[in-house]
Amino acid sequence: MATTKKTTSAGVLDWVDARFPLSSTIKGHLTEYYAPKNFNFWYFFGSLALMVLVLQIVTGIFLTMNYKPEAELAFASVEYIMRDVFGGNIIRYMHSTGASMFFVVVYLHMFRGIIYGSYRTPRELIWLFGVGIFLVLMGEAFFGYLLPWGQMSYWGAQVIVNLFSTVPFIGPDLSEWLRGDYLVSDATLNRFFAFHVIALPMVLLGLVAVHIVALHEVGSNNPDGVEVKATKDKATGIPLDGIPFHPYYTVKDLVGVVVFLMVFFAIVFFMPEMGGYFLEANNFIPADPLKTPAHIAPVWYFTPYYSILRAVPPIGISQFPGVVAMGLSVVAFAFLPWLDKSPVKSIRYRGALYKRWLAAFVVSWVLLGYLGTIPGDAWGQFGAWLGRADRATVIARVCSVVYFAFFALMPWYTKKDQTKPVPERVTY
Ligand code: HEM
Repeated sequence: MATTKKTTSAGVLDWVDARFPLSSTIKGHLTEYYAPKNFNFWYFFGSLALMVLVLQIVTGIFLTMNYKPEAELAFASVEYIMRDVFGGNIIRYMHSTGASMFFVVVYLHMFRGIIYGSYRTPRELIWLFGVGIFLVLMGEAFFGYLLPWGQMSYWGAQVIVNLFSTVPFIGPDLSEWLRGDYLVSDATLNRFFAFHVIALPMVLLGLVAVHIVALHEVGSNNPDGVEVKATKDKATGIPLDGIPFHPYYTVKDLVGVVVFLMVFFAIVFFMPEMGGYFLEANNFIPADPLKTPAHIAPVWYFTPYYSILRAVPPIGISQFPGVVAMGLSVVAFAFLPWLDKSPVKSIRYRGALYKRWLAAFVVSWVLLGYLGTIPGDAWGQFGAWLGRADRATVIARVCSVVYFAFFALMPWYTKKDQTKPVPERVTY
């Protein structure tokens, strides 16, 4: 009996394989895809990013079933989801918490890439697709934030779209074109909805697909920055330091998933607003085009770059230099593969000079992020608390200089750095 059953399922598989590369795909990408055996917890964040992406798409689909993308109805439809739709509050909080957690995961994923030099040859394209994902993700979060049509949604969009009006010559026309009106209005909400639910998710999915195809073409880096493909078993051609992705890393990644979900649902159930960092109090007030809130600040994941915008002094009344600096601060990551001249990839074998620059960069990013959560007009009060009214501005400027110096001086300090010898095989 058992033999017949096996033969039947094998027969079905053969039938499918003759028409679709099922077995070979599973082998090539899972059971015979050899990943370095020394992955640590930093390698959880890629699969976690994938999971959060799916979570956002699924919860987003359910939100769309009851959300109304119309200026008159949007705020009330979100309240309806929160109060009357069965499970609606959980779905909405999963989506809003998911947005912030997406950035937590992606920032840690990028940081892993930086400390282990995963952007270096031959992984430049994986990195560039990653930077593309990061930019699209920022757009996705920005467009999504307008949808609840609260005060912060409205005025946040107003501030960001107005940044485009600082572009010389075409600025005012450009921002009007983006809004589709003279001010943020129903037309703006409609187009932001279209971008948020269709256009950008499709681009995001495409980019994630090519990100993983590129990764599987060259193979994963690892905490030692040693190429495992360089040392293969002569008879089988399998990397000596490689293990099949499935079952080893599928099971290991499950540990990351369980820990992540515990944190995620603790936030969803017990502190979905996260003290105003994930959902701001002002956004529970309906948008009012006639009443500017006293404090407008973006959500935490944008604040480092927003601080750079505010730190750069205007030329006359033009904020354009700040806007350019803010744009550059995000795009700078794309240049890392060509700025890093070190003979080693992983931080394990780098010297003190590189580590100090990296530490200075991280501290600056965090300080800029913190300053960005403080409303611009309160920088003076915060500075006064530190001893002098202009002190917050001075800190933001120093941090901005350190931030850019980390990138601009990288060719110099990575060459000068005293590195340690890299082992031939991974350490385990
Ligand atoms: C939706 C967002 C993203 C998803 C779903 C995603 C997914 C993944 C997955 C599944 C892996 C393999 C597992 C791992 O190495 O952790 C990976 C590797 C990688 N990702 Fe991403 N990623 C995303 C965003 C990014 C971003 C924003 C960057 C950089 C700017 C980036 C850079 C990299 C690099 C360099 C690797 C290779 C790492 C190594 O081999 O050491 N990714 N990504």
